[in-house]
Amino acid sequence: MNDFDHDASMSLEELRRSFPISDRVNYLNHAATGPISRGVQEAIRRQTEIHTTQHETATRRYEPIYRECRESAARLVGTSAAHVAFIQNTSHGISLLANGQDWREGDNVIVPEMEFPSNYLAWLSLADRGVELRRLKVIEGRVTPEQLSRAIDDRTRVVALSHVQYFNGFRADLSAIAAVAHAHRALLVVDGTQSVGAIPIDVEAMGIDALVVSAHKWMLGPLGVGFMALSGEMLARTRVTQLGWLSVNDPFAFNREIDLPDDATRFEAGTENAAGIFGLAQRFREIEAYTIERIERRILRLNDRLADLARRHGFEVRSPMEAGARSGILSFHHPAIADPDTVAYLQDLGIHIGFREGALRVSPHYYNSEDEIDELVAALVKKSDVR
Ligand SMILES: Cc1ncc(COP(=O)(O)O)c(C=O)c1O
Repeated sequence: MNDFDHDASMSLEELRRSFPISDRVNYLNHAATGPISRGVQEAIRRQTEIHTTQHETATRRYEPIYRECRESAARLVGTSAAHVAFIQNTSHGISLLANGQDWREGDNVIVPEMEFPSNYLAWLSLADRGVELRRLKVIEGRVTPEQLSRAIDDRTRVVALSHVQYFNGFRADLSAIAAVAHAHRALLVVDGTQSVGAIPIDVEAMGIDALVVSAHKWMLGPLGVGFMALSGEMLARTRVTQLGWLSVNDPFAFNREIDLPDDATRFEAGTENAAGIFGLAQRFREIEAYTIERIERRILRLNDRLADLARRHGFEVRSPMEAGARSGILSFHHPAIADPDTVAYLQDLGIHIGFREGALRVSPHYYNSEDEIDELVAALVKKSDVR
């Protein structure tokens, strides 16, 4: 097997070879940004090679990859290609959705108070159209359907939240949340950036109206590209607010008429991020070869090991750990290491983690090793002198 291929039987050693960052550092910060594999790098190189030397054939060569990538995205998240639109990033996708609803003065949107700003500010900006932002309290690090039931009413048009909260890794029960939202005819908008690529998701089975994903974290994809998966209801209710020549059915007719396709490509206004889509298409191939279920299992196993070791050394694990509520993110606290200096100290040792909301945030991916988890804990124990 060469370093560009992925398959279901690959050993950890082979997997690590395809992620050359693992040669140099102990990278445990995928909730911030993920490195790309040699395969993704090669796919991007292939696109730039076409652009450099065979540019006259570019459209013919790019189209099949765009199609493949859209179909792969649909398969990974449980929908069909007609429901998938490429976007630049999560902030872009959420803004398209927020600005596209037919808002009436007195409508409201419900968002968790600790939500990452990408899925918060676009809704907050609707205040000047008379839309109220209702903040759901995060209690013991969680957002529950019961809380949502108390906050929602018949003027709620959208419930927006992350599948996995960025600061503590809490995984929301999206099916139950969708049921509450839909009972009030509200749309459910989910930021999947901290989950997709690490854990399975099925938008149609779960009742998600919009799943918005950036490729550069758990997807281990390129920067500046992502996708969103929209339900039929979301497609029907969302006005297209960013229009360009590619938004329409027959762009090469140059018609100057707003003749939008029925599918989600109506949200793609102009020239695609070709390099990004080539890289993302390769990443989907790698995920399919290894399988998302095995990726999740491996990540959760690494986090089990980390949680056990951390507790044994007196750290308080802050992430919900029960099945169904946990994810790739594990955050923990100890008074002696509860400061961003700890992150800098670890960086000097070649160990990379994050610090959010007063806790250390560790986010391993499937190519990380058990030894890397042990190395992190040993370094923290040394710094904090806890045993
Ligand atoms: C939940 C969540 N959504 C989105 C992003 C990134 O947003 P964007 O891709 O728009 O830069 C982050 C980054 O930390 C995040 O944690």
